[in-house]
Amino acid sequence: MTALVELRGVERVYPAVRPVTALRPTNLAVRSGDWLAITGRSGSGKSTLLQILGLLDRPTSGAYLLDGADVAGLSDRERTRLRASRIGFVFQAFHLMPHRSALDNVTVALMYNRCPRRLRAARAAEALDRVGLGGRVGAMPNTLSGGERQRVAVARALSIRPDLLLADEPTGNLDSATAEEVLTLFARLHAEGQTVLMVTHDPQIAARAARRVQVVDGTVREVRPDA
Ligand SMILES: Nc1ncnc2c1ncn2[C@@H]1O[C@H](COP(=O)(O)OP(=O)(O)OP(=O)(O)O)[C@@H](O)[C@H]1O
Ligand SMILES: [Mg+2]
Repeated sequence: MTALVELRGVERVYPAVRPVTALRPTNLAVRSGDWLAITGRSGSGKSTLLQILGLLDRPTSGAYLLDGADVAGLSDRERTRLRASRIGFVFQAFHLMPHRSALDNVTVALMYNRCPRRLRAARAAEALDRVGLGGRVGAMPNTLSGGERQRVAVARALSIRPDLLLADEPTGNLDSATAEEVLTLFARLHAEGQTVLMVTHDPQIAARAARRVQVVDGTVREVRPDA
């Protein structure tokens, strides 16, 4: 089966007087339906890997294949369009607009996604319903708990019906009980068929995922399930 995303020999070097090799040549295949945790110490290259997987950043060398097709030839504009239609992001710090309702916060993703205007509100409400916030569509972020804010961010990512849901330390700003809620949500989305990739430095959180890869000084290696 063709991988949803495949990295072939992908390397990322940040240019500087002394260039930083954040990612050493990496092969990684993400299949549709995977639930994968990316672990590693601070500075090991986890976010770099996630940004490349999410088409937010380009490799210095190597190939990125989406559905088996190399994206190297695409313009920035085409990459942005591909990202907006196929990839959902969740960040540690939620990144919600503070003066807009939960519904409006989700609707934004659908604007970039070029979803027809008349469908946006219903699609946003459906995504909020999916994360258990169907009763809070009008709530402002400052009236929501941390876990609820993160669920709004997950709804925003899900609203575009992404092929790939990427989360960078999604539980990093949450207490352990609330982190558990978000993990349970990811587990359910995975069970419903959603492909989920999550970065975490916490091995216990990573253990919840079906598949784990570890990044050590820019080198990516698969962790066996029994390890
Ligand atoms: N824009 C940049 N320019 C130069 N170096 C960078 C840049 N972004 C990251 N780096 C370096 O690349 C390496 C990997 O960084 P990355 O952010 O991927 O680590 P991380 O594993 O996500 O760390 P953390 O757990 O702290 O978030 C680090 O040495 C970092 O200093
Ligand atoms: Mg990081």
